[in-house]
Amino acid sequence: MNKDNIKIVRMQLHDIISTLAILEVTGLESWKYADFQLEIQHNNPLALVGKINTTVIGFCIARLITPLSLISFISHSPNYNLPSPSFPKIKTTGNNEKSITECEIYNIGIKREFQNKGAGTYLLNQLISIANGYDAKSIWLEVRSSNKQAIRFYQKNDFKEIYERKDFYSKPLENAVVMKRNLQPQFYS
Ligand SMILES: CC(C)(COP(=O)(O)OP(=O)(O)OC[C@H]1O[C@@H](n2cnc3c(N)ncnc32)[C@H](O)[C@@H]1OP(=O)(O)O)[C@@H](O)C(=O)NCCC(=O)NCCS
Repeated sequence: MNKDNIKIVRMQLHDIISTLAILEVTGLESWKYADFQLEIQHNNPLALVGKINTTVIGFCIARLITPLSLISFISHSPNYNLPSPSFPKIKTTGNNEKSITECEIYNIGIKREFQNKGAGTYLLNQLISIANGYDAKSIWLEVRSSNKQAIRFYQKNDFKEIYERKDFYSKPLENAVVMKRNLQPQFYS
């Protein structure tokens, strides 16, 4: 697989069915058609698909979040919910006035036959580059503690384990590993 053949574009309504098929095969957390539809309706710049010609070979859903929603993310509240969509505009003023935004990855998946060939890294790098454009300070995610393949993938891409959220996932009940990668450290010394 040549990465040059992969085009990373914003997810459109017509990509949802292919995305759901990848979700089903990879056994990721259950996102429904309506969840993806919501991201598209809210014009989320971090709802992306990777395509070879017209075939969706992978997807990634992340959000830009405010520090306030991050507090909710890192709390251990059993009532934790996804923050409501809020997609800040890029600010064009000087560095001092840039708002500090975090980024959270909710889901990333590559079609099985394209896994372990660099597609996930390529998609992640595109996502990071967009998040950098919004001055995101860091990027967070949660992953099942048994998903060694994904944990290794994230570690290779400079994510560090921060802590474990006990019994975060159900069916089966399992801890989540919370991981973080800092972005643009030069702005936040
Ligand atoms: C995790 C995932 C998105 C990575 O994408 P990818 O295109 O396969 O990964 P890349 O080819 O860019 O990166 C390769 C690295 O990822 C890890 N990796 C990918 N596939 C792997 C596999 N089958 N077994 C072990 N490690 C694997 C390794 O660290 C590998 O590097 P290495 O072989 O040099 O050690 C993809 O494998 C996937 O969709 N997995 C199923 C869904 C999933 O678990 N998503 C994460 C939810 S939090």
